[in-house]
Amino acid sequence: MRIDIISVLPELLESPLSHSIMKRAQAKGLLEVHLHHLREYSSLKHQQVDDYQFGGGAGMVMMLEPIVNCIETLQSKVTYDEIIYMTPDGETLNQRMANQLSLKGNLMILCGHYKGIDQRIRDHFITKEISIGDYVLSGGELGAAVLVDAIGRLLPGVLNDETSALFDSFQDNLLAPPVYTRPDEFRGWKVPDVLLSGDHRKIEDWRHQQALERTKERRPDLL
Ligand code: ADE
Repeated sequence: MRIDIISVLPELLESPLSHSIMKRAQAKGLLEVHLHHLREYSSLKHQQVDDYQFGGGAGMVMMLEPIVNCIETLQSKVTYDEIIYMTPDGETLNQRMANQLSLKGNLMILCGHYKGIDQRIRDHFITKEISIGDYVLSGGELGAAVLVDAIGRLLPGVLNDETSALFDSFQDNLLAPPVYTRPDEFRGWKVPDVLLSGDHRKIEDWRHQQALERTKERRPDLL
């Protein structure tokens, strides 16, 4: 999968996308991430990308022209399945959406800043608007990093143990069960006996039961 991200602050995306699983996904050639600096697509003297909003009001708006320029330059080389805009008024990201997007071909992600982007970009180019939660960030970059991470780890071959994503929280609409590692006893705090029993059937039943209970208690809305 190829993901192109357009931003006025691409530096913000460099670190989160170049470590751990995202680094491995790219090293294995399963994910290609290209960052594009929006200012480089401005034809104005000071590479300006924002302007005052029509009708007045505080806050600047990202202008049409550099964004159109950037999107169309990318589209002349690559075909995109979705052009995504990161915005707090978009559809809230969840595991189902990440699963669906991980099955797509190429994605373009536009990060907003200031008061947002000129509505005409949303009307004529954007195919999907995504929020990472009901709070406002300073820009779309951190949201884009979250989105790319959530999608990238689902690409076949990215995780070492192919099955491990299947047991994540939210797959099957259940939260993940508790996990333990060595030592089996610490300050008298014991690991549940069933996990040491070697009976895989029993262990699976226990995990499923724990996942159900945890979901009932913490996120009954998922059931
Ligand atoms: N930009 C600003 N706030 C955001 C949010 N909550 N999700 C996605 N992009 C954003």
